[in-house]
Amino acid sequence: MDPIAYVNGTFVPLSEAKISILDRGFLFADGIYEVSAVLDGKLVDNDSHLARLARSVGEIALPLPETIERIKEIQKELIARNELANGLVYLEVTRGADKGRDFAFPKGVKPTLVMFTSVKDIVDAPSAKTGIAVITVPDIRWARRDIKSVALLAQVLAKQAAAEAGAGEAWMIEDGKVTEGGSSSAFILTQDDVIVTRQNGSEILPGCTRKAVVALAAERQLRVEERPFSIEEALAAKEAFITSASSFVQAVTSIDGKLVADGKPGSMTNRLREIYIDFARATAG
Ligand code: PDD
Repeated sequence: MDPIAYVNGTFVPLSEAKISILDRGFLFADGIYEVSAVLDGKLVDNDSHLARLARSVGEIALPLPETIERIKEIQKELIARNELANGLVYLEVTRGADKGRDFAFPKGVKPTLVMFTSVKDIVDAPSAKTGIAVITVPDIRWARRDIKSVALLAQVLAKQAAAEAGAGEAWMIEDGKVTEGGSSSAFILTQDDVIVTRQNGSEILPGCTRKAVVALAAERQLRVEERPFSIEEALAAKEAFITSASSFVQAVTSIDGKLVADGKPGSMTNRLREIYIDFARATAG
């Protein structure tokens, strides 16, 4: 079956889904995106993703072409039309297509809104059992990483380097500290059982999964510290893991070829993964 995509008000087969070559998302990466997980046909923590979407578009003065409520309806209709049980919904909004290529914002141009789905079994992903290797790369991104911009070339290069090294993610390093993964938030568990992840700010994307995991851990009286950490600290840690909509909570078992602890997913990581999946199932809508 050809999957169904959404393009500016209509549902069309993915193979026929088209936008203009003058679209500013294409010309300037002048757009914002979101990725929400789908479990058993329901959206996971989607209000958090849509709140971040609203914030991101606000930060670049990009008006949404539909209300958040309508966007949610479209996401749900797309899931239904694709009979998607487990996977992801991708959505992107750009500043639209003007008559030519002018850097400044166009006037009277309707933003572009597109969505598509992909199938992914996040809960039973094989890497959830084995953990993943990560490599480190310099963080060469711009200064507003809190905005979920479609300008992802630095992450494309980072994740390609990871793929070539047989690793599942790249951790980006700035001033000797980990900022985050190419498409995930980075965590460690120290030897004295403190969960550490970098504090939100313009240096990282405020991960929705990160936010939920920090709150779920705090509710269980687990100790959480939001501060930067170095690779040396990560390699001396008891455990390391990443969080994202596309992986939930995923163990990191080696960094640049050096094992984290015994090189197996740790018990706290496994526990947080279960806690998160329970939360996801209980609150999905
Ligand atoms: N990436 N940091 C970066 C740079 C990301 O791109 C992502 C998500 C995250 C995790 O955020 P969340 O928990 O809200 O998914 C952190 C998505 C999944 C992607 O680009 O595919």
